[in-house]
Amino acid sequence: MRQYFPIFDNAVFLNFAGVAPVSIPVRDAVIRWTEIGSKSDFDYNQLISDAKYLYSKLLNGSINGFFFTRNTTSGLQIFIQNFPWRSGDSVVISDCEFPANRLPWLGLKNQGVDVRVLKTKNMKISLEEFISLCDETTKAVSVSFVQYLSGQRIDLMTLGKFCREKNIMLVVDAIQGLGVVPIDVEEAGIDWLSADGHKWLCGPEGAGIGWASQRAMEIVKPKSSGWLAQKNPFNFEQFDCDLALDANMYLDGSINVIGIMALNAAIKMLLDIGIEVIYKKVLSLTDYAINIIKQRDFLLLTPERELDRAGIVTFKSKNDPIIDFETLKRQNIICSLRGGYLRISPHFVNVEGDIDQVFEVIINGLKGRVSDPF
Ligand SMILES: Cc1ncc(COP(=O)(O)O)c(C=O)c1O
Repeated sequence: MRQYFPIFDNAVFLNFAGVAPVSIPVRDAVIRWTEIGSKSDFDYNQLISDAKYLYSKLLNGSINGFFFTRNTTSGLQIFIQNFPWRSGDSVVISDCEFPANRLPWLGLKNQGVDVRVLKTKNMKISLEEFISLCDETTKAVSVSFVQYLSGQRIDLMTLGKFCREKNIMLVVDAIQGLGVVPIDVEEAGIDWLSADGHKWLCGPEGAGIGWASQRAMEIVKPKSSGWLAQKNPFNFEQFDCDLALDANMYLDGSINVIGIMALNAAIKMLLDIGIEVIYKKVLSLTDYAINIIKQRDFLLLTPERELDRAGIVTFKSKNDPIIDFETLKRQNIICSLRGGYLRISPHFVNVEGDIDQVFEVIINGLKGRVSDPF
């Protein structure tokens, strides 16, 4: 499986929470695009139905609810811009969210919406405190499935149940969870989900997945509709709007064909392996890393309990994190530096030896690495 990713020929890649490297199936899909792009018989509808079929397998959501987005932010913005807000409504978010799921909400203040921001401790969300910010004015809450910095995974089932009982829309930024943690959007009671495909899904940047529940589609109607959002988008002579009844209503114009082809190939690769299989592998790798972090008495930011995390492990060694990060980079060990911590994020292609290499370098410096020619 490691051969799927040519980057491993000369690097140890542990940054799937950043931007995934190009895999062979994705590369082949892009090449295929160049081939069909030079012919005129491209089957647009087939591409769309293939994509929606794959998304429904991945998210267990009804096919009607899927739509294409440019990225996580744009998928969230469709909800934020089109929900029928009234002055006095409130929404609840958290201060530890990646900006994609924070900044777009703040603009609602201009419409008289009370944007309540949970102040987290140690960059982790207490569901109890989050829920306690909701009241009868609350129309929506928004969380990341998995937090980008701490790696905390949210118990969507519990939050979804609460939201259904209180008639609150549950909006989820799923980019750090999709492709690594199994999810059932219907069962979890999610109303709106958005994720770009360039992290754990192993797709390219700029081709995202949106999903809306039936009740969301009944409430969130686009204020300004696109030509592709119509029931018959290819009837170019149609003058008035005749919006699609499914989530195609959220489309604007031409879709990102090359990106969707590449993302389809990536999702197919993951589904062929099986998300459950991937999840178990990733958890065993993150367990492995957490054990070393604890043995060494390093500072672990990620929650220890398996149910509270996914593929991200964030920590600080006893060294300056910037030095650790730079030293690792010089050894072609790719992870990331976030909020003054090191973040490693292994996927199904990684092995325990990759994690060993991280800690060898951190503990012993450059000379510690077995392959070090000096
Ligand atoms: C939780 C989370 N949401 C969103 C994004 C990216 O947002 P977008 O797809 O809009 O660029 C990231 C990227 O780092 C992220 O970690």
